[in-house]
Amino acid sequence: MDKLVIDGGYRLSGTIKISGAKNAALPLIASALMCGGILRLTNVPWLADTLSMMKLIEHLGLQTQKKDDEIKISGEASSLDAPYEQVRKMRASILVLGPLLARYGNVKVSLPGGCAIGTRPVDLHIWAMQKLGAIVEVADGYIKARCRKGLIGTKIVFPFVSVGATENTMMAATLAKGRTQIINAAREPEIIDLGNCLNSMGAKISGHGTDNIVIEGVASLSSANHRVIADRIEAGTFAIAAAITQGDLTLVNMDPVYLNALFAVLEQTGATIQIGEESVRVFSSSRAKPVDIATQPYPGFPTDLQAQYMSLMAVADGSSKISETIFENRFMHVPELLRMSGDIQIDGRSCIVHGKANLKPAPVMATDLRASVCLVLAALATEGKTTISRIYHLDRGYANLEEKLNKCGAQIERKIG
Ligand code: UD1
Repeated sequence: MDKLVIDGGYRLSGTIKISGAKNAALPLIASALMCGGILRLTNVPWLADTLSMMKLIEHLGLQTQKKDDEIKISGEASSLDAPYEQVRKMRASILVLGPLLARYGNVKVSLPGGCAIGTRPVDLHIWAMQKLGAIVEVADGYIKARCRKGLIGTKIVFPFVSVGATENTMMAATLAKGRTQIINAAREPEIIDLGNCLNSMGAKISGHGTDNIVIEGVASLSSANHRVIADRIEAGTFAIAAAITQGDLTLVNMDPVYLNALFAVLEQTGATIQIGEESVRVFSSSRAKPVDIATQPYPGFPTDLQAQYMSLMAVADGSSKISETIFENRFMHVPELLRMSGDIQIDGRSCIVHGKANLKPAPVMATDLRASVCLVLAALATEGKTTISRIYHLDRGYANLEEKLNKCGAQIERKIG
């Protein structure tokens, strides 16, 4: 298995181009199942996860053509069965449920795998499909759903915010009969992007980006071109890399508005943030001050940046509290940071992080996608060589990570093996 060896302690400086958003690309690729024409997506990041989603829709019978950061998807589904071998690698595979059910009236999807960050059930996805009139059965590790005469628009009030369940419901309701209203919808930028793309295909969706989405069902969709939004989590990770190395990074090809919550916190830690139109410069010349955070659905502090932020607080000048409100088991990076001599106590769904002037290099192991990159950040700030194993998690979500960071002065070497 590949490892990263990071010789840390260097200040990063330079410009990094942000890739397209993984979490936007995944539902967009799934939405091609409903298109009926050709869906052309640009700014697609080529990552293990986007390639898995491509493989899944190819398995279902669609044709894909990939060139640079562009993909053209066409054709009709010839299979309505998303098997365990295809789905287990990635939880987002559940996003084929809504499109296949809405378009073909029948679907069988394996219960998903993905990051080990809590139990992560899919009950809300199933419940929403039932509300739209589907008959759903969960047996032998599979979700089987059908609707004889199509889905029927209705009012769906989510008991709590779920990004994936909002996306699945929005896609399914696009081809349902009549009007669907989703209340307590997720407001993430990736939902806005999906709504915009579906509208380009002929859907009638409004309110995406608010917690109240209204969808007037249409009979069919057609060809569209769509550019995937920038990856705000990748950009946020590099912003923290600038702060933790007391460096100076300019991130381009991104939308800074989507990171307001992080930037507000980074400013309090002492970093300077200069917002441009499609760029941001983050620089710092001193050790971070401790600042407490609690993760929240968008527009709050993203759970997908919690681990990276903990690395910054592990070397901050004082103690801070980090609370995780979205996932119940998202502190798997803590034991690894402790191996690097971090001083962190877990207390239920919060951590008390006592910042230390220096961490120490140690062999550490990646446990999920964001935990992996948190270890990269910690290693960048630590003098000496840190070895990170199991980095396949990293490859699921970060395009050319070593290349991008090494161009700015990092010393990261990948050992293939
Ligand atoms: C998406 C993101 C992920 C991010 C998360 C929260 C993608 C591909 N992944 O994941 O990177 O960390 O949003 O911002 O976009 N839940 C249930 N039942 C359900 C669905 C969710 O209990 O049916 C719970 C989850 O276990 C979790 C919470 O709801 O505790 C939020 O999860 P959700 O927003 O659905 O996350 P994902 O869409 O899986």
